[in-house]
Amino acid sequence: MPMPAIDPSLIPEDMRPMIHALCATSIRLSGIIARGPLAGKLGAGVGENSDGDQQKALDVMADEMFEAALKGTGVKYYASEEQEEVLTLDDGGRYALATDPLDGSSNIDVNVTIGTIFSIFEAADDASASFLRPARDQICAGYIAYGPQTLMAITFGSGTMLFVLEPETGEFVPVEKAMKLPEAAKEFSINASNRRHWTQPVLAYVEENERGKDGSKGKDMNFRWVGSLVAETHRILTRGGTFLYPSDARQGYENGRLRMVYEVAPMAFLVEQAGGKATDGVKPIMDLTAEELHERRPFVFGSSEEVDRIAELHG
Ligand code: AHG
Ligand code: MN
Ligand code: MN
Repeated sequence: MPMPAIDPSLIPEDMRPMIHALCATSIRLSGIIARGPLAGKLGAGVGENSDGDQQKALDVMADEMFEAALKGTGVKYYASEEQEEVLTLDDGGRYALATDPLDGSSNIDVNVTIGTIFSIFEAADDASASFLRPARDQICAGYIAYGPQTLMAITFGSGTMLFVLEPETGEFVPVEKAMKLPEAAKEFSINASNRRHWTQPVLAYVEENERGKDGSKGKDMNFRWVGSLVAETHRILTRGGTFLYPSDARQGYENGRLRMVYEVAPMAFLVEQAGGKATDGVKPIMDLTAEELHERRPFVFGSSEEVDRIAELHG
């Protein structure tokens, strides 16, 4: 018997095979990522996904690994950033799982943290009804970060737990039973190269942060941008801060960049369960419903004081 990749007593019984498959696959993936160029040309362009984003070799590899591993684990419907349509993996399965199998693709070749994001619902009668529903209906969400440590944050709706991979045993070891996202922030994250395209409230928030101690904020704010949502979310869950990927004036960015079903909704669930807030600028993400599988949604999350301030600036 191989060691379980995670202590089963921490996982609701029916979900154990599925969560175990996610863990075991991410452990294999972390081994490949750690070898970088020794494992092949992981960051090579191999095509485009349904949304016109370039697919890298590792995007496709990760998707194929999760799809294969989740068969026979209770997953009825499998939706992935890398596949246009939802797949039926197991007609009798109880769950619908959506994933960004590899987040932060632009960082693959530069040895910067990348990740996997997943969101789980109870499966409904058909694929659309399973995923196109309020984010509040999620029963589990999580991410795995492949960084200096491989770690996993996961929620089943009663707090956000954190596990770190012990490479010696191949097990995710619990390190936090309930993560607590600090209410106040000292850092903010936004892709500042888009400044000229921002809306007025976003610009006002960033300028307030830049004025720091000398402005109405009364404190200095640091700026950070990794370019991997998983890395950004993990930093903010750990020590507070804000993240913004707002809508902007560029064509195709009317709803920002991040995808509602497998990026925004699961991160919002994890953040809320850790005491932070997540909105589209104004409305809580958890109250919103996706209309299309690959749709984008403006995303603001982090320390509650800051997320409230951003909503206030939106009037
Ligand atoms: P993906 O690699 O799955 O396409 O996601 C990339 C996302 C996210 O991780 C990150 O926050 C954002 O795109 C970066 O966008 P910019 O390139 O506009 O900075
Ligand atoms: Mn992504
Ligand atoms: Mn991706």
